[in-house]
Order: sequence, then C-alpha cells, then structure tokens
Amino acid sequence: MSRGSDPPLMQRPLSERVTVVEGDITEQHVDAIVNAANESLLGGGGVDGAIHRAAGPGLLAECRRLGGCQPGDAKITAGYNLPARFVIHTVGPVWQGGTHGEDDLLASCYTRSLELAEARGIRTIAFPAISTGAFGFPLPRATVIAVRTVLSFLSRSDSISQVIFVCHGKRAFDLYLDAVCELAGEYATPTGLHPPAPTTQGTGRGVLQEQVRAQLGTIEEVWGVRFVDKERLARTIGERCGDRWGADSVTAGLNSWVAVLGKKGDIEVPPGVLDRILDGTRQRFSHR
Ligand code: APR
Repeated sequence: MSRGSDPPLMQRPLSERVTVVEGDITEQHVDAIVNAANESLLGGGGVDGAIHRAAGPGLLAECRRLGGCQPGDAKITAGYNLPARFVIHTVGPVWQGGTHGEDDLLASCYTRSLELAEARGIRTIAFPAISTGAFGFPLPRATVIAVRTVLSFLSRSDSISQVIFVCHGKRAFDLYLDAVCELAGEYATPTGLHPPAPTTQGTGRGVLQEQVRAQLGTIEEVWGVRFVDKERLARTIGERCGDRWGADSVTAGLNSWVAVLGKKGDIEVPPGVLDRILDGTRQRFSHR
C-alpha cells in the first residue's frame, strides 16, 4: 500500500517493510501466515496446533493431500477460518547442537516461504520464530538467521511489501526488534541505493527531519493511523538521532510500537515510549 507521494517501495528503508509485534500469529490480518509445522503436515502443538485450531478442519483436509514436507522446504494452503488468506507450512530443523546444517535449513524455511509468497502474489506475510519451541533452536541465534534471511530477500525483491515477525513473549520481541534495528542498515535496496551512510557530522537536520517525516507518513499509511504530534516527533527524532542510521532505527521501533498498539485513527506517542526507543537506539549505535 503506498501513496503517490511515497518513494517507490524499493527506495524506502528496509526497516519500514519489516515489523516486529508481540502476539498470536493466528490473529494477524495479513495475506499469509507461516506455520512452524512438522514433516507430516498433519498438525501438532505450539504454532502448528494454534493454526489448525483457528483454521478449522478444512486446513487438515487440504494438508492431507500435500504428501508431507521436507525440512527447509515450504508448502501453501488456503487459510480457511483464519483472517489470513493463506497458510505457508514450513518445517524447521530440529536443533542438534549446530553442527548438522541447522542454520542453513532454518534460513531455507524463510527463503522458501518468501519464494512461495512471491509466486502467489502475496504482499504481506507473518512469521513465527520457527524452530525455537519444540525443535529447540536457540532463540537469539534463530532470530539473527530469520532477520538476516528476510532482509536479504527484501533487498533483492519488491514483491513483498510487509513482513511481520510475530513474537510470543517479551524476550523474543526485544531480540527481534534489536536485530531488525541493528541489521536493516546492512542491506542495500535493489536499486543499489544504500540508506545514506552515516556521516560524522550527521545528516543536515532539516533533511533528516524531512526523511523522518516521510517515514512517519509511511507508518500512518500502513497502519491507518495519524500521529497527532507528527511535527514534534519528526523534530525530536531528527535532533536527537543526528544521522540516518539512528533515525531509521527509531522509526523502526515506532513502526513496531504502532503495530502492537493495534489502534486506528489519531494516536499520540507518549514521551516515555519515545524516550525508551531513543535510548535503545543510542545504546545500539553507540559503537558506530
Ligand atoms: N503465535 C506466535 N508464536 C507462537 C504461537 C502463536 N500462537 N504459539 C507458539 N509460538 C511460538 C513459540 O513460543 C516458539 O517461539 O512459536 C515458536 C515456535 O515454537 P513451536 O510451535 O514449538 O515450533 P517449532 O519449534 O518449530 O517446533 C515444531 O512443534 O508444534 C509442533 O507440529 C509442530 O512438530 C512440530 C514442532
């Protein structure tokens, strides 16, 4: 979803196309949700169980006809009673200590899911933290693999407009948000335009505030909200971040806060929330 005035999808920072929320993947209103399944595709516990419960019996009936799925691969079905139109079932690796190709298999789950989504014209997709529950993959390691793989795909393709990482619990949310903020700047957009590199003097204040204002406008468009204090936000972020890396990180944090807020229409960012996001960014970027 983009306005005429918005820069083309590919020239928007990748951090605007990736959102981190804390919640239940079965409640996500996106084109497709990804299921952390097993090779049989015949249901289970965790995310798999939640998705089958929410989708209803039609999902299992279709899964029975798929003939299973190999670890690292993915298959697609309809969403049935879910808000999402599609379910992409992928089978993550079982953690065996990290010496049996688990990292590559996990990355393949994200890549294959995105490739399937692209082939079906899916624009918005939500992922759980694949393999980090019953399959025992360490969450911090899986988080970096998930975020890097998704950012790398988005940097090469404009088919997907929004990827949402749906985290179960605050620890996962914080890990994913940190990873997105930290890694988003490392991936060029397909047009070859890197987000402007940080300059020691920082970007001109006025230019930076204008860029922040545009990013706030994108968040408003994606989530159907209006920041009642947008000018103050753009000014504060532009002044306290000083360069594009920091500003991108703060707007990524705001994007996730708006997603979790789950409201429409006029919203105001409490000063404490903005301070927490700014302080988190300063810690992440203090080494730059
Ligand atoms: N929404 C979002 N995330 C969820 C939800 C939910 N409703 N329920 C659980 N999670 C999180 C868990 O907290 C965990 O971080 O999803 C992550 C993946 O956990 P699992 O569902 O256990 O998936 P995985 O580790 O990949 O193991 C897959 O478990 O359920 C069985 O049939 C499944 O055999 C397969 C195995």
